Amino acid sequence: MGAVEYRPGLEGVIATETSISYLDVDHEEIVVRGYNLLDLARQRTYVDVVGLLVHGSLPDERGRAELERQLLAAANVPAELWQILRLLPRQMDAMDRLRTAISALGGWDQAANSADPEQDRASGLRVIAQSATIVANLIRVAEGNEPLLPDDRRSYPENFLWMITGREPSAAEVRAFDQTLIAYSEHELPNSTFAARVIASTLADLYGALTGAVASLKGPLHGGANEAVMEMLLEAGDEEGLERLIRAKLARKERIMGFGHRVYMRRMDPRAQLLKETLAQLVTERGDPEGEKLLRMCQRGEDVMRSEKGLFPNLDYYAAPVYWVLGIPIDLYTPIFFAARTAGLVAHVVEQHAHNRLFRPRVLYTGPRGLKP
Ligand code: CMC
Repeated sequence: MGAVEYRPGLEGVIATETSISYLDVDHEEIVVRGYNLLDLARQRTYVDVVGLLVHGSLPDERGRAELERQLLAAANVPAELWQILRLLPRQMDAMDRLRTAISALGGWDQAANSADPEQDRASGLRVIAQSATIVANLIRVAEGNEPLLPDDRRSYPENFLWMITGREPSAAEVRAFDQTLIAYSEHELPNSTFAARVIASTLADLYGALTGAVASLKGPLHGGANEAVMEMLLEAGDEEGLERLIRAKLARKERIMGFGHRVYMRRMDPRAQLLKETLAQLVTERGDPEGEKLLRMCQRGEDVMRSEKGLFPNLDYYAAPVYWVLGIPIDLYTPIFFAARTAGLVAHVVEQHAHNRLFRPRVLYTGPRGLKP
């Protein structure tokens, strides 16, 4: 093999072509099929973004209404799936339950063994709808309770949030939740999307690719960070507590969850700015003193990390307090990330299957040679 540069963690390596999304760091823009993700979050709905990602273009008003109707109509899951989830050990992590559920779901799809992009789209829309129902009910079913089934008289985000909390959300809460779904919907080639594309590149099916993506997303360096952020904020208690905690962690050379990013590293993740605004709007509209305290704490943490490490928050840092204010159980933060990201993942599996080349890189061998057995 000729001289090929080795980049640990594939940092900066171009691993695939895509027309789905691109992180334009210099212009601080997340491009999703030509649109700025933040414009989409401010002006459109998550269902619009599902249409953009899966079908390739933003739907008009009628198209959005039809897609929303389709998603809500497909949101029920086979009753046997709840039985499977009930049989799992009680203490099993919510992301591991979700991984099992997504894998099992393929069993009810006749087309599960296909690598046909059109089939991926059709199955993908069903999984986007069903993943919300599964995620919302992970804790309820683990605790031996009946799932709260989808209510198709509600909008997609309202139904999702209602299934999670079991209470009527306000319009402001639904809008804030919808913005987090858009923020999480797609982000170029993070570990989980890469994992999904690597799996799809063997012509394995959508369900296998999505199951691998859940496993990847669980890790605290990736999707698991949003739950770790909330644990940290709760442990800290207030602004001074957070500053002390961060300084103590840094002194022990520990990582502060919700900061840093392989691609943005020394810049603010645009999604963090978006969700910071979402949090501020939500707490102002509700006149919520606990939410206001969380916002002040997050600002203090941001200031300390900027001055001490030159590091900026990523979206998980602000998604966590938004979910807390919405009354969402912490164990569901990362599963919600997956449910939202399913839209982007489906788009990537479609694209991989449509223009496939098997992923099969090489290694820099550092082991011994010439040993005799
Ligand atoms: N806290 C403290 N130091 C950090 C952090 C952090 N969160 N992130 C990076 N650094 C330091 C790191 O110690 C290293 O310093 P030095 O050069 O002195 O050894 C330098 O920054 C470069 O770090 P790296 O680990 O080489 O960077 P990476 O690109 O491999 O890691 C990351 C990226 C996201 C894994 C990392 O920033 C991190 O661990 N962050 C905390 C976890 C987190 O919030 N993850 C969510 C990522 S965004 C949403 C998502 O994709 O799910």
